[in-house]
Amino acid sequence: MTNSEVKATLSFSDGSTPLELPIYKGTVGPDVIDIRKLYGATGMFTYDPGFMSTASCNSAITYIDGDKGELLYRGYPIEQLAAKGDFLESCYLLLNGELPNQAQKDEFVYTVSRHTMVHEQMQFFFRGFRRDAHPMSVLVGTVGALASFYHDSLDINDPRHREVSAIRLIAKMPTLVAMAYKYSIGQPFVYPKNELSFSANFMHMMFSTPCEEYKVNDVLVRALDRILILHADHEQNASTSTVRLAGSSGANPFACIAAGIACLWGPAHGGANEAALSMLEEIGSVDNIPEFIRQVKDKNSGVKLMGFGHRVYKNYDPRAKLMRETCYEVLAELGLENDPLFKLAMALEKIALEDEYFVTRKLYPNVDFYSGIVQRALGIPTALFTGIFAMARTIGWVAQWKEMISDPEQKIGRPRQLFIGEKTRTVKPIEQR
Ligand code: SDX
Repeated sequence: MTNSEVKATLSFSDGSTPLELPIYKGTVGPDVIDIRKLYGATGMFTYDPGFMSTASCNSAITYIDGDKGELLYRGYPIEQLAAKGDFLESCYLLLNGELPNQAQKDEFVYTVSRHTMVHEQMQFFFRGFRRDAHPMSVLVGTVGALASFYHDSLDINDPRHREVSAIRLIAKMPTLVAMAYKYSIGQPFVYPKNELSFSANFMHMMFSTPCEEYKVNDVLVRALDRILILHADHEQNASTSTVRLAGSSGANPFACIAAGIACLWGPAHGGANEAALSMLEEIGSVDNIPEFIRQVKDKNSGVKLMGFGHRVYKNYDPRAKLMRETCYEVLAELGLENDPLFKLAMALEKIALEDEYFVTRKLYPNVDFYSGIVQRALGIPTALFTGIFAMARTIGWVAQWKEMISDPEQKIGRPRQLFIGEKTRTVKPIEQR
Protein backbone atom coordinates (compact mmCIF):
# COMPACT_ATOMS: atom_id res chain seq x y z
CA MET A 1 0.00 0.00 0.00
CA THR A 2 1.54 3.35 -1.04
CA ASN A 3 0.50 6.96 -0.57
CA SER A 4 -0.82 8.63 -3.72
CA GLU A 5 0.48 12.12 -4.52
CA VAL A 6 -3.18 12.98 -5.12
CA LYS A 7 -5.23 13.90 -2.04
CA ALA A 8 -9.03 13.94 -1.70
CA THR A 9 -10.50 17.21 -0.48
CA LEU A 10 -13.95 17.16 1.08
CA SER A 11 -15.53 20.60 0.83
CA PHE A 12 -18.89 21.74 2.17
CA SER A 13 -21.37 24.06 0.44
CA ASP A 14 -21.92 25.94 3.74
CA GLY A 15 -18.31 27.13 3.70
CA SER A 16 -17.21 24.75 6.53
CA THR A 17 -13.51 24.06 6.62
CA PRO A 18 -12.63 21.61 3.81
CA LEU A 19 -11.04 18.34 4.89
CA GLU A 20 -8.06 16.82 3.07
CA LEU A 21 -7.98 13.01 3.10
CA PRO A 22 -5.09 10.76 2.02
CA ILE A 23 -5.48 8.36 -0.92
CA TYR A 24 -3.69 5.00 -0.94
CA LYS A 25 -2.76 2.86 -3.95
CA GLY A 26 -2.72 -0.95 -3.92
CA THR A 27 -0.73 -3.10 -6.35
CA VAL A 28 -3.76 -3.30 -8.66
CA GLY A 29 -7.41 -2.23 -8.55
CA PRO A 30 -9.20 0.86 -7.18
CA ASP A 31 -7.38 3.33 -4.93
CA VAL A 32 -8.90 4.05 -1.50
CA ILE A 33 -9.63 7.27 0.39
CA ASP A 34 -8.66 6.98 4.06
CA ILE A 35 -11.64 8.38 5.97
CA ARG A 36 -10.55 7.27 9.43
CA LYS A 37 -10.20 10.87 10.67
CA LEU A 38 -13.52 12.00 9.11
CA TYR A 39 -15.67 11.65 12.25
CA GLY A 40 -13.08 13.29 14.49
CA ALA A 41 -12.68 16.21 12.08
CA THR A 42 -16.33 16.71 11.03
CA GLY A 43 -18.56 14.85 13.51
CA MET A 44 -20.04 13.02 10.51
CA PHE A 45 -19.96 9.38 9.37
CA THR A 46 -19.91 8.07 5.83
CA TYR A 47 -23.11 6.30 4.75
CA ASP A 48 -22.70 3.10 2.68
CA PRO A 49 -25.37 0.38 3.35
CA GLY A 50 -24.21 -2.91 1.79
CA PHE A 51 -20.68 -1.46 1.59
CA MET A 52 -21.03 -0.73 -2.14
CA SER A 53 -18.09 1.73 -2.04
CA THR A 54 -16.21 0.64 1.08
CA ALA A 55 -12.90 -1.19 1.48
CA SER A 56 -13.01 -2.81 4.93
CA CYS A 57 -9.34 -3.81 5.00
CA ASN A 58 -6.20 -4.22 2.97
CA SER A 59 -5.49 -7.76 1.78
CA ALA A 60 -2.94 -9.63 -0.33
CA ILE A 61 -4.94 -12.82 -0.81
CA THR A 62 -7.53 -12.55 -3.62
CA TYR A 63 -8.10 -9.95 -6.31
CA ILE A 64 -11.24 -9.65 -8.45
CA ASP A 65 -11.58 -7.42 -11.50
CA GLY A 66 -15.36 -7.29 -11.93
CA ASP A 67 -15.28 -5.47 -15.26
CA LYS A 68 -12.77 -7.84 -16.87
CA GLY A 69 -14.18 -10.93 -15.15
CA GLU A 70 -10.81 -11.81 -13.61
CA LEU A 71 -10.14 -13.72 -10.36
CA LEU A 72 -6.60 -14.11 -8.95
CA TYR A 73 -5.53 -16.13 -5.88
CA ARG A 74 -2.25 -14.55 -4.70
CA GLY A 75 -1.75 -13.25 -8.27
CA TYR A 76 -2.44 -16.54 -10.09
CA PRO A 77 -5.46 -16.57 -12.48
CA ILE A 78 -8.15 -19.01 -11.35
CA GLU A 79 -8.17 -20.62 -14.82
CA GLN A 80 -4.51 -21.69 -14.39
CA LEU A 81 -4.96 -22.95 -10.83
CA ALA A 82 -8.05 -24.95 -11.82
CA ALA A 83 -6.29 -26.44 -14.86
CA LYS A 84 -2.80 -27.09 -13.46
CA GLY A 85 -3.15 -27.83 -9.76
CA ASP A 86 -5.36 -29.40 -7.14
CA PHE A 87 -7.36 -28.03 -4.22
CA LEU A 88 -4.70 -28.59 -1.57
CA GLU A 89 -2.15 -26.70 -3.69
CA SER A 90 -4.58 -23.78 -3.80
CA CYS A 91 -5.08 -24.14 -0.04
CA TYR A 92 -1.32 -23.94 0.52
CA LEU A 93 -1.13 -20.92 -1.82
CA LEU A 94 -3.98 -19.02 -0.14
CA LEU A 95 -2.60 -19.77 3.32
CA ASN A 96 1.12 -19.13 2.69
CA GLY A 97 1.22 -16.76 -0.30
CA GLU A 98 3.23 -19.04 -2.63
CA LEU A 99 2.54 -22.28 -4.48
CA PRO A 100 4.26 -25.24 -2.80
CA ASN A 101 7.20 -27.13 -4.28
CA GLN A 102 6.90 -30.91 -4.25
CA ALA A 103 8.43 -31.34 -0.78
CA GLN A 104 6.21 -28.59 0.68
CA LYS A 105 3.16 -30.08 -0.99
CA ASP A 106 3.93 -33.59 0.26
CA GLU A 107 4.31 -32.30 3.83
CA PHE A 108 1.11 -30.22 3.62
CA VAL A 109 -0.91 -33.13 2.20
CA TYR A 110 0.49 -35.45 4.90
CA THR A 111 -0.39 -32.98 7.67
CA VAL A 112 -3.91 -32.24 6.40
CA SER A 113 -4.73 -35.92 5.82
CA ARG A 114 -3.71 -36.74 9.39
CA HIS A 115 -6.12 -34.21 10.83
CA THR A 116 -9.21 -35.42 8.94
CA MET A 117 -10.64 -37.45 11.83
CA VAL A 118 -12.87 -35.67 14.35
CA HIS A 119 -13.06 -36.45 18.08
CA GLU A 120 -15.23 -39.54 18.66
CA GLN A 121 -17.49 -37.46 20.91
CA MET A 122 -18.45 -35.30 17.88
CA GLN A 123 -20.84 -38.01 16.69
CA PHE A 124 -23.07 -37.42 19.71
CA PHE A 125 -23.75 -33.82 18.59
CA PHE A 126 -25.38 -35.23 15.45
CA ARG A 127 -27.89 -37.22 17.46
CA GLY A 128 -29.50 -34.01 18.66
CA PHE A 129 -30.48 -33.03 15.12
CA ARG A 130 -33.55 -34.26 13.23
CA ARG A 131 -32.54 -36.56 10.36
CA ASP A 132 -34.08 -34.03 7.94
CA ALA A 133 -32.27 -31.02 9.45
CA HIS A 134 -30.74 -28.79 6.77
CA PRO A 135 -27.02 -29.70 6.55
CA MET A 136 -26.04 -26.05 7.01
CA SER A 137 -27.75 -26.00 10.43
CA VAL A 138 -25.73 -29.12 11.32
CA LEU A 139 -22.49 -27.55 10.10
CA VAL A 140 -23.02 -24.28 11.98
CA GLY A 141 -23.52 -26.34 15.15
CA THR A 142 -20.78 -28.91 14.75
CA VAL A 143 -18.07 -26.57 13.47
CA GLY A 144 -18.70 -24.22 16.39
CA ALA A 145 -18.60 -27.26 18.68
CA LEU A 146 -15.08 -28.13 17.47
CA ALA A 147 -13.87 -25.34 19.79
CA SER A 148 -14.95 -27.48 22.75
CA PHE A 149 -12.27 -30.05 21.89
CA TYR A 150 -9.24 -28.01 20.94
CA HIS A 151 -8.20 -26.01 23.99
CA ASP A 152 -4.60 -26.47 22.80
CA SER A 153 -5.13 -24.24 19.76
CA LEU A 154 -7.44 -21.42 20.80
CA ASP A 155 -4.88 -18.73 21.64
CA ILE A 156 -5.30 -16.62 18.50
CA ASN A 157 -2.23 -14.56 19.39
CA ASP A 158 -0.01 -17.65 19.18
CA PRO A 159 1.09 -18.21 15.53
CA ARG A 160 1.45 -21.94 16.20
CA HIS A 161 -2.13 -22.15 17.50
CA ARG A 162 -3.33 -20.24 14.42
CA GLU A 163 -1.50 -22.69 12.16
CA VAL A 164 -2.89 -25.77 13.94
CA SER A 165 -6.44 -24.39 13.92
CA ALA A 166 -6.16 -23.62 10.20
CA ILE A 167 -5.07 -27.17 9.38
CA ARG A 168 -7.75 -28.68 11.61
CA LEU A 169 -10.51 -26.64 9.97
CA ILE A 170 -9.38 -27.41 6.40
CA ALA A 171 -9.02 -31.09 7.21
CA LYS A 172 -12.17 -31.66 9.26
CA MET A 173 -14.75 -29.82 7.15
CA PRO A 174 -15.04 -32.68 4.58
CA THR A 175 -15.47 -35.17 7.41
CA LEU A 176 -18.24 -33.10 9.02
CA VAL A 177 -20.00 -32.45 5.69
CA ALA A 178 -19.94 -36.18 4.89
CA MET A 179 -21.15 -36.99 8.42
CA ALA A 180 -24.06 -34.57 7.96
CA TYR A 181 -24.99 -36.41 4.76
CA LYS A 182 -24.66 -39.90 6.26
CA TYR A 183 -26.72 -38.85 9.28
CA SER A 184 -29.48 -37.51 6.99
CA ILE A 185 -29.80 -40.84 5.14
CA GLY A 186 -29.45 -43.06 8.21
CA GLN A 187 -26.18 -44.64 7.15
CA PRO A 188 -23.20 -45.08 9.51
CA PHE A 189 -20.43 -42.51 9.47
CA VAL A 190 -17.45 -43.48 7.30
CA TYR A 191 -13.96 -42.75 8.60
CA PRO A 192 -11.47 -40.92 6.35
CA LYS A 193 -8.66 -42.86 4.64
CA ASN A 194 -5.21 -41.27 4.76
CA GLU A 195 -4.07 -42.82 1.48
CA LEU A 196 -6.81 -41.05 -0.53
CA SER A 197 -6.52 -37.53 -1.97
CA PHE A 198 -8.54 -34.76 -0.33
CA SER A 199 -11.42 -34.95 -2.82
CA ALA A 200 -11.33 -38.74 -3.23
CA ASN A 201 -11.44 -39.04 0.57
CA PHE A 202 -14.55 -36.85 0.65
CA MET A 203 -16.29 -38.97 -2.01
CA HIS A 204 -15.25 -42.08 -0.02
CA MET A 205 -16.76 -40.70 3.21
CA MET A 206 -19.91 -39.70 1.32
CA PHE A 207 -20.58 -42.82 -0.74
CA SER A 208 -18.79 -45.80 0.86
CA THR A 209 -20.80 -48.04 3.17
CA PRO A 210 -19.68 -50.89 5.49
CA CYS A 211 -20.94 -53.22 2.76
CA GLU A 212 -19.21 -51.64 -0.23
CA GLU A 213 -16.24 -49.32 -0.79
CA TYR A 214 -16.72 -46.28 -3.04
CA LYS A 215 -14.88 -46.90 -6.31
CA VAL A 216 -12.86 -43.76 -7.01
CA ASN A 217 -13.74 -42.29 -10.44
CA ASP A 218 -10.88 -39.96 -11.34
CA VAL A 219 -12.99 -37.77 -13.65
CA LEU A 220 -15.62 -37.20 -10.95
CA VAL A 221 -13.01 -36.67 -8.22
CA ARG A 222 -11.19 -34.18 -10.45
CA ALA A 223 -14.48 -32.36 -11.06
CA LEU A 224 -15.13 -32.06 -7.33
CA ASP A 225 -11.56 -30.87 -6.77
CA ARG A 226 -12.07 -28.16 -9.38
CA ILE A 227 -15.37 -27.09 -7.77
CA LEU A 228 -13.48 -26.68 -4.48
CA ILE A 229 -10.73 -24.59 -6.15
CA LEU A 230 -13.32 -22.31 -7.79
CA HIS A 231 -15.09 -21.71 -4.47
CA ALA A 232 -12.00 -21.39 -2.27
CA ASP A 233 -11.86 -17.63 -1.78
CA HIS A 234 -13.45 -14.48 -3.14
CA GLU A 235 -12.15 -11.27 -1.54
CA GLN A 236 -14.38 -9.57 1.07
CA ASN A 237 -17.72 -11.26 0.26
CA ALA A 238 -20.48 -11.37 2.87
CA SER A 239 -19.37 -14.56 4.65
CA THR A 240 -15.69 -13.64 4.62
CA SER A 241 -16.56 -10.23 6.04
CA THR A 242 -18.57 -12.05 8.71
CA VAL A 243 -15.54 -14.18 9.61
CA ARG A 244 -13.32 -11.08 9.78
CA LEU A 245 -15.81 -9.19 11.95
CA ALA A 246 -16.21 -12.14 14.32
CA GLY A 247 -12.44 -12.58 14.43
CA SER A 248 -11.88 -8.89 15.18
CA SER A 249 -13.45 -9.45 18.61
CA GLY A 250 -10.87 -12.15 19.40
CA ALA A 251 -13.35 -15.03 18.97
CA ASN A 252 -11.68 -18.40 18.40
CA PRO A 253 -11.29 -19.58 14.76
CA PHE A 254 -13.88 -22.37 15.05
CA ALA A 255 -16.52 -19.86 16.21
CA CYS A 256 -15.53 -17.46 13.39
CA ILE A 257 -15.85 -20.15 10.72
CA ALA A 258 -19.23 -21.21 12.16
CA ALA A 259 -20.34 -17.57 11.75
CA GLY A 260 -19.13 -17.62 8.14
CA ILE A 261 -21.11 -20.81 7.48
CA ALA A 262 -24.24 -19.18 8.88
CA CYS A 263 -23.86 -16.20 6.53
CA LEU A 264 -23.02 -18.33 3.49
CA TRP A 265 -26.33 -20.19 3.96
CA GLY A 266 -28.34 -17.22 2.67
CA PRO A 267 -29.90 -17.66 -0.84
CA ALA A 268 -28.39 -14.34 -1.98
CA HIS A 269 -24.93 -15.77 -1.23
CA GLY A 270 -23.84 -19.39 -0.99
CA GLY A 271 -27.38 -20.73 -0.92
CA ALA A 272 -27.82 -19.65 -4.55
CA ASN A 273 -26.54 -22.95 -6.00
CA GLU A 274 -29.30 -24.86 -4.21
CA ALA A 275 -31.82 -22.17 -5.25
CA ALA A 276 -30.57 -22.18 -8.88
CA LEU A 277 -31.13 -25.93 -9.25
CA SER A 278 -34.59 -25.67 -7.66
CA MET A 279 -35.33 -22.83 -10.09
CA LEU A 280 -34.32 -24.98 -13.09
CA GLU A 281 -36.46 -27.87 -11.83
CA GLU A 282 -39.38 -25.48 -11.37
CA ILE A 283 -39.03 -24.04 -14.91
CA GLY A 284 -39.04 -27.63 -16.12
CA SER A 285 -38.73 -27.11 -19.87
CA VAL A 286 -37.32 -24.68 -22.42
CA ASP A 287 -40.89 -23.78 -23.42
CA ASN A 288 -41.48 -22.25 -19.97
CA ILE A 289 -38.43 -19.94 -20.14
CA PRO A 290 -40.19 -16.90 -21.70
CA GLU A 291 -42.87 -16.87 -18.96
CA PHE A 292 -40.20 -17.25 -16.27
CA ILE A 293 -38.15 -14.37 -17.71
CA ARG A 294 -41.32 -12.26 -17.76
CA GLN A 295 -41.79 -12.92 -14.03
CA VAL A 296 -38.17 -12.01 -13.33
CA LYS A 297 -38.65 -8.65 -15.09
CA ASP A 298 -41.79 -8.00 -13.05
CA LYS A 299 -40.42 -6.40 -9.87
CA ASN A 300 -43.62 -7.27 -8.00
CA SER A 301 -43.10 -10.99 -8.60
CA GLY A 302 -40.05 -11.15 -6.32
CA VAL A 303 -38.68 -13.74 -8.77
CA LYS A 304 -34.93 -13.60 -9.37
CA LEU A 305 -32.83 -15.52 -11.87
CA MET A 306 -30.83 -17.45 -9.28
CA GLY A 307 -27.20 -18.00 -10.23
CA PHE A 308 -27.19 -14.71 -12.13
CA GLY A 309 -25.84 -11.33 -11.11
CA HIS A 310 -23.01 -10.34 -8.82
CA ARG A 311 -22.02 -7.36 -6.68
CA VAL A 312 -18.55 -7.26 -8.22
CA TYR A 313 -18.65 -9.09 -11.55
CA LYS A 314 -20.23 -6.88 -14.20
CA ASN A 315 -18.92 -9.32 -16.77
CA TYR A 316 -18.96 -13.11 -16.95
CA ASP A 317 -17.88 -14.72 -13.64
CA PRO A 318 -14.71 -16.63 -14.68
CA ARG A 319 -15.73 -19.41 -12.32
CA ALA A 320 -19.04 -19.87 -14.17
CA LYS A 321 -17.19 -20.61 -17.43
CA LEU A 322 -15.01 -23.23 -15.72
CA MET A 323 -18.04 -24.65 -13.95
CA ARG A 324 -19.87 -25.05 -17.28
CA GLU A 325 -16.85 -26.92 -18.73
CA THR A 326 -16.74 -29.14 -15.64
CA CYS A 327 -20.46 -29.73 -15.98
CA TYR A 328 -20.02 -30.96 -19.55
CA GLU A 329 -17.05 -33.24 -18.61
CA VAL A 330 -18.96 -34.87 -15.74
CA LEU A 331 -22.16 -35.36 -17.76
CA ALA A 332 -20.12 -36.83 -20.64
CA GLU A 333 -18.33 -39.20 -18.23
CA LEU A 334 -21.71 -40.35 -16.92
CA GLY A 335 -23.32 -40.53 -20.37
CA LEU A 336 -25.71 -37.72 -19.43
CA GLU A 337 -24.76 -35.26 -22.19
CA ASN A 338 -28.44 -34.86 -22.90
CA ASP A 339 -29.28 -34.12 -19.27
CA PRO A 340 -32.45 -32.00 -19.63
CA LEU A 341 -31.51 -29.64 -16.78
CA PHE A 342 -28.11 -28.90 -18.33
CA LYS A 343 -29.74 -28.20 -21.69
CA LEU A 344 -32.35 -26.05 -19.94
CA ALA A 345 -29.61 -24.11 -18.09
CA MET A 346 -27.70 -23.43 -21.31
CA ALA A 347 -30.89 -22.33 -23.08
CA LEU A 348 -31.81 -20.05 -20.16
CA GLU A 349 -28.30 -18.57 -20.13
CA LYS A 350 -28.43 -17.89 -23.90
CA ILE A 351 -31.84 -16.21 -23.68
CA ALA A 352 -30.87 -14.12 -20.63
CA LEU A 353 -27.57 -12.96 -22.16
CA GLU A 354 -29.47 -11.67 -25.21
CA ASP A 355 -32.22 -9.97 -23.19
CA GLU A 356 -32.06 -6.19 -22.71
CA TYR A 357 -33.11 -6.46 -19.04
CA PHE A 358 -30.05 -8.53 -18.13
CA VAL A 359 -27.68 -6.83 -20.56
CA THR A 360 -28.38 -3.32 -19.22
CA ARG A 361 -28.02 -4.54 -15.64
CA LYS A 362 -24.84 -6.46 -16.50
CA LEU A 363 -26.29 -9.65 -15.09
CA TYR A 364 -24.20 -12.69 -16.05
CA PRO A 365 -24.10 -16.25 -14.73
CA ASN A 366 -22.13 -16.51 -11.50
CA VAL A 367 -20.38 -19.46 -9.91
CA ASP A 368 -23.66 -20.85 -8.61
CA PHE A 369 -25.48 -21.18 -11.94
CA TYR A 370 -23.89 -24.44 -13.09
CA SER A 371 -22.47 -25.77 -9.83
CA GLY A 372 -25.78 -27.32 -8.80
CA ILE A 373 -26.04 -29.37 -12.00
CA VAL A 374 -22.47 -30.69 -11.58
CA GLN A 375 -23.01 -31.57 -7.93
CA ARG A 376 -26.31 -33.31 -8.66
CA ALA A 377 -24.51 -35.39 -11.32
CA LEU A 378 -21.84 -36.28 -8.71
CA GLY A 379 -24.61 -37.69 -6.52
CA ILE A 380 -24.56 -34.83 -4.01
CA PRO A 381 -28.07 -34.01 -2.72
CA THR A 382 -29.33 -30.47 -3.40
CA ALA A 383 -29.53 -29.58 0.29
CA LEU A 384 -25.79 -30.31 0.63
CA PHE A 385 -24.66 -27.99 -2.21
CA THR A 386 -24.02 -25.05 0.12
CA GLY A 387 -22.25 -27.39 2.52
CA ILE A 388 -19.82 -28.19 -0.31
CA PHE A 389 -19.40 -24.45 -0.86
CA ALA A 390 -18.61 -24.04 2.86
CA MET A 391 -16.13 -26.93 2.70
CA ALA A 392 -14.32 -25.14 -0.13
CA ARG A 393 -14.58 -21.62 1.31
CA THR A 394 -13.15 -22.69 4.68
CA ILE A 395 -9.63 -22.20 3.32
CA GLY A 396 -10.53 -18.67 2.18
CA TRP A 397 -12.12 -17.81 5.51
CA VAL A 398 -9.15 -19.21 7.43
CA ALA A 399 -6.59 -17.42 5.25
CA GLN A 400 -8.45 -14.10 5.58
CA TRP A 401 -8.87 -14.61 9.33
CA LYS A 402 -5.13 -15.30 9.74
CA GLU A 403 -4.28 -12.20 7.65
CA MET A 404 -6.60 -10.05 9.75
CA ILE A 405 -5.30 -11.32 13.10
CA SER A 406 -1.69 -10.64 12.10
CA ASP A 407 -2.47 -7.16 10.66
CA PRO A 408 -0.99 -4.56 13.06
CA GLU A 409 -3.72 -2.13 11.98
CA GLN A 410 -6.58 -4.45 12.89
CA LYS A 411 -9.10 -3.25 15.48
CA ILE A 412 -12.47 -4.62 16.57
CA GLY A 413 -14.98 -3.88 13.80
CA ARG A 414 -17.60 -1.47 15.09
CA PRO A 415 -19.59 0.42 12.37
CA ARG A 416 -21.83 3.36 13.31
CA GLN A 417 -25.26 4.39 11.91
CA LEU A 418 -27.55 7.18 10.75
CA PHE A 419 -30.14 7.27 13.54
CA ILE A 420 -33.68 7.96 12.29
CA GLY A 421 -35.61 6.90 15.41
CA GLU A 422 -37.29 8.88 18.22
CA LYS A 423 -35.54 11.73 20.04
CA THR A 424 -35.33 11.56 23.85
CA ARG A 425 -38.79 11.27 25.39
CA THR A 426 -40.25 10.55 28.85
CA VAL A 427 -41.83 7.27 29.94
CA LYS A 428 -45.50 7.84 30.90
CA PRO A 429 -47.33 5.67 33.45
CA ILE A 430 -49.10 2.83 31.68
CA GLU A 431 -52.54 4.30 32.40
CA GLN A 432 -51.53 7.44 30.45
CA ARG A 433 -50.24 5.62 27.29
C1 SDX B 1 -22.16 -15.55 -4.42
O1 SDX B 1 -19.72 -11.49 -3.07
C2 SDX B 1 -19.26 -12.57 -3.54
O2 SDX B 1 -18.15 -12.63 -3.98
C3 SDX B 1 -20.21 -13.74 -3.47
C4 SDX B 1 -19.73 -15.01 -4.17
C5 SDX B 1 -18.54 -15.62 -3.46
O3 SDX B 1 -17.80 -16.38 -4.13
O4 SDX B 1 -18.38 -15.41 -2.25
O5 SDX B 1 -19.39 -14.75 -5.51
C6 SDX B 1 -20.81 -16.10 -4.14
O6 SDX B 1 -22.82 -15.17 -3.49
C7 SDX B 1 -22.60 -15.38 -5.85
C8 SDX B 1 -24.01 -14.68 -5.95
C9 SDX B 1 -25.05 -15.78 -5.74
N1 SDX B 1 -26.41 -15.16 -5.61
C10 SDX B 1 -27.32 -15.34 -6.56
O7 SDX B 1 -27.12 -15.91 -7.65
C11 SDX B 1 -28.69 -14.79 -6.17
C12 SDX B 1 -29.26 -13.97 -7.34
N2 SDX B 1 -28.42 -12.76 -7.48
C13 SDX B 1 -28.90 -11.56 -6.82
O8 SDX B 1 -29.54 -11.75 -5.60
C14 SDX B 1 -27.88 -10.42 -6.90
O9 SDX B 1 -27.41 -10.39 -8.17
C15 SDX B 1 -26.71 -10.38 -5.96
C16 SDX B 1 -27.13 -10.50 -4.52
C17 SDX B 1 -25.75 -11.48 -6.26
C18 SDX B 1 -25.99 -9.04 -6.17
O10 SDX B 1 -26.84 -8.07 -5.70
P1 SDX B 1 -26.46 -6.48 -5.80
O11 SDX B 1 -25.05 -6.27 -6.17
O12 SDX B 1 -26.96 -5.84 -4.54
O13 SDX B 1 -27.25 -6.01 -7.05
P2 SDX B 1 -28.72 -5.54 -7.01
O14 SDX B 1 -29.55 -6.51 -6.21
O15 SDX B 1 -28.75 -4.10 -6.62
O16 SDX B 1 -29.13 -5.72 -8.54
C19 SDX B 1 -28.94 -4.66 -9.48
C20 SDX B 1 -30.16 -4.77 -10.39
C21 SDX B 1 -31.49 -4.67 -9.65
O17 SDX B 1 -32.44 -4.19 -10.58
P3 SDX B 1 -32.81 -2.60 -10.58
O18 SDX B 1 -33.23 -2.27 -9.15
O19 SDX B 1 -31.56 -1.89 -11.03
O20 SDX B 1 -33.96 -2.48 -11.56
O21 SDX B 1 -30.18 -6.07 -11.02
C22 SDX B 1 -31.34 -6.78 -10.59
C23 SDX B 1 -31.86 -6.10 -9.34
O22 SDX B 1 -33.25 -6.27 -9.22
N3 SDX B 1 -30.90 -8.15 -10.32
C24 SDX B 1 -31.53 -9.25 -10.70
C25 SDX B 1 -30.71 -10.31 -10.29
N4 SDX B 1 -29.62 -9.83 -9.67
C26 SDX B 1 -29.75 -8.48 -9.69
N5 SDX B 1 -32.70 -9.43 -11.33
C27 SDX B 1 -33.05 -10.71 -11.57
N6 SDX B 1 -32.32 -11.80 -11.22
C28 SDX B 1 -31.15 -11.62 -10.58
N7 SDX B 1 -30.43 -12.68 -10.23
